Amino acid sequence: MSVSSKDISITKVEKSRISELDPSDIHFGMNYSDHMLIAKYENGAWQKPEIMPFHNMTFSPATTFFHYGQAIFEGVKAYKDADGNPLIFRPYDNWKRMNRSAERMAMPEVPEDIFIDGMRALIDLDRNWIPVGAESSLYIRPFMLAVDEFIGVRPAEKFLFIIITSPAGPYYNKPVSIYVQDQYVRAFPGGIGFTKAAGNYGMSMYPTMQIKKMGYDQILWTDGFEHKYVQEIGTMNVFFVIGGKVITPDITHDTILAGVTRNSVIALLRDKGVIVEERMISIDEIEAAHKEGKLQEAFGTGTAASIAPIYALTYHDDKMELPPVETWETANWLKKELADIRYGRKEDTHGWTLKL
Ligand code: COI
Repeated sequence: MSVSSKDISITKVEKSRISELDPSDIHFGMNYSDHMLIAKYENGAWQKPEIMPFHNMTFSPATTFFHYGQAIFEGVKAYKDADGNPLIFRPYDNWKRMNRSAERMAMPEVPEDIFIDGMRALIDLDRNWIPVGAESSLYIRPFMLAVDEFIGVRPAEKFLFIIITSPAGPYYNKPVSIYVQDQYVRAFPGGIGFTKAAGNYGMSMYPTMQIKKMGYDQILWTDGFEHKYVQEIGTMNVFFVIGGKVITPDITHDTILAGVTRNSVIALLRDKGVIVEERMISIDEIEAAHKEGKLQEAFGTGTAASIAPIYALTYHDDKMELPPVETWETANWLKKELADIRYGRKEDTHGWTLKL
């Protein structure tokens, strides 16, 4: 059936696949909801977006993104409140960030009526796919690809903006062990570290594979000049609680992703009167704090990961074990506070939630 709602054409599935999903066994990125959104950019303009059944796509082997990685993405989540209404958390922030990535990667900005209205229409249609269990949500993955059929190296002229969605439980279901990386580099000033470019994640696979073999879960990247100042973790921003103060690397050097969860955490802590320092923080400072017994908590933040406690941080031979996570005040409070806002259990004083 084909229907038209505003400027989005909608073709619905004949039969939903939702009954194939076991709500008690949801893993990140394994299942995709019934529909997807696609908008084409050609001849210098975005075309009318279409929502259609989730399907495989075919591309010429000469397509730009296969060869040169002109591809960016975002991560957003939709939750259900106690009455079953969908709530999308801070989609406007992801929209703005996607357009910052787009500019740096020579891609067209996605207009609000495609990114936001398209996402609303898609989530509205697939609202049954938002799982309701504790820590469950519908992970929304907007992305853009350069799709010229041309293998010369130049910015493409044709693009696809796509949104797919996937029911998700917690990305990490237990505290993580982190390895401080000082051999490989993620980002330099002037580079693309602040973007959600596909290549930022592709380049991390090999170093991550190496540390996983050593028994660690994720990398904490350091700066490329001195390997001294910490930047971010493979899938998350990073926070430390040292002597009662919360410290996180600042995002002013083009090297660190301006995380939406990072920003929410800083705002919630400051609302509460907690001192949050956004500044360069060196591994020497973290080691010294640990030696003095002042390293109280360390955690990652991200859309997929939410708040992910770090139980140990290893730098060379120094394995810094943190106090038991159950005793942490900051991360545990943040986790609850954020969840209460995301699931509509607490007043959203910042206007973060988009209700459908
Ligand atoms: C997110 O948190 O949304 C991310 O994009 C991180 C990761 C899953 C790639």
